[in-house]
Amino acid sequence: MNKKGMISKQKKETNKEINRRDFISKSALLGAGMAVAPLAFANDKKTSIENLLKSPSINEGKRMLGTLEVSPIGLGCMSMKSGSYNPPRENKDMIPVIRGAVDLGVTFFDTAEVYGPFTDEDLVGEALAPVREQVVIASKFGFDLTSGQRGGRNSKPEFIKQAVEGMLKRLRTDRIDLLYLHRLDPNVPVEDVAGTVKELIKEGKALHFGLSEVSPSTIRRAHAVQTVAAVQSEYSMIQRALENQVIDTCGELGIGFVPWGAVNRGFLGDKFNEYSRFSDDSRFAAVPYFAPEAIKAHMEVLILVREWARKKNATPAQISLAWVLAQKPFIVPIPGTTKLHHVKENQGALSISFTHRELKEFRDALEKIPLVGVRGPETALVDQ
Ligand SMILES: NC(=O)c1ccc[n+]([C@@H]2O[C@H](COP(=O)([O-])OP(=O)(O)OC[C@H]3O[C@@H](n4cnc5c(N)ncnc54)[C@H](OP(=O)(O)O)[C@@H]3O)[C@@H](O)[C@H]2O)c1
Repeated sequence: MNKKGMISKQKKETNKEINRRDFISKSALLGAGMAVAPLAFANDKKTSIENLLKSPSINEGKRMLGTLEVSPIGLGCMSMKSGSYNPPRENKDMIPVIRGAVDLGVTFFDTAEVYGPFTDEDLVGEALAPVREQVVIASKFGFDLTSGQRGGRNSKPEFIKQAVEGMLKRLRTDRIDLLYLHRLDPNVPVEDVAGTVKELIKEGKALHFGLSEVSPSTIRRAHAVQTVAAVQSEYSMIQRALENQVIDTCGELGIGFVPWGAVNRGFLGDKFNEYSRFSDDSRFAAVPYFAPEAIKAHMEVLILVREWARKKNATPAQISLAWVLAQKPFIVPIPGTTKLHHVKENQGALSISFTHRELKEFRDALEKIPLVGVRGPETALVDQ
């Protein structure tokens, strides 16, 4: 063989080796449950592993929200200080939870100006200051908090700019990686909000733009002015209204989807049962799917989740998160917790995979269970 032939043979061998290594690493990723995500909801027969491997949303144990790379599961920090599900916790007790999450590979942290108000951002800023360069901080504006309490909605451009100055101070940073509009202000067109965030991005005070609890048409209108990286809304096995167009719109536009409530505020983590009752002053009492008849009905979902947990040698919270992750490759849940052992447990969802047949079987069973007190599909088409 002449020199040219030898070089060409060597090149072919090298390419073969690269392809083989590439395949092994991707298969390992699939085995690790990172990438077992159909490209459409579970019943779509067109889904194939080839498509999955081509997906730009999967990147070696990371997921993409638009062009923002994050850990496949983030940490919701709301309940640490908001008083929503438990009394506000001391910073000294929550800082180890947040830093422990970083040690476990979490790079995506979620807070908002209204949690506390302000104290949750303060906590997140303090906890993440030593590792600021390694993490992605998401926060949200949109409420009038000038009285120190949650007031009405306010997204007037000057108000947003002023809010962001406060957020940067509390978060102890010079930029917010993902800046969300928390709730749409009916008096301010979303184009004006997107335009204001665009200016903040030009100034470097925000890096990416997000929306929360908005309709597909609002997503499109905002995205036309400033690229939207992520939409955050409630989504779980029990709250599936957003399968009506919102999640598909995100997929079509290359926007990430960040479900809050992925463990159904603890219910799918097996924290409650049919006998759980909430006092009138508890936040749970105001949630229709925590009414006695609703939790009784949803025990069927929990029983199904427990069955899958047994099959997969996992916990119900892990199954609930793995199910959400498996719906689309651009979904990044942010389970909230005040406990490091729950962060650890929740991260364990990343090692659970479902075959397409299993996902279909799971969905078929879910669809037979009547849900009570949840949003209807038509609610996905209106801003909340
Ligand atoms: N955009 C919005 O409008 C919006 C609304 C609500 C929330 N959020 C964000 O989304 C995040 C998550 O939502 P969420 O907190 O409302 O709902 P969630 O994550 O479904 O539920 C949180 C609750 O589940 C419990 N939990 C978590 N992991 C568990 C596990 N492994 N086993 C048993 N229980 C477990 C937690 O209790 P423990 O503390 O006991 O673990 C906590 O009370 C929030 O932290 C917040 O950052 C956004």
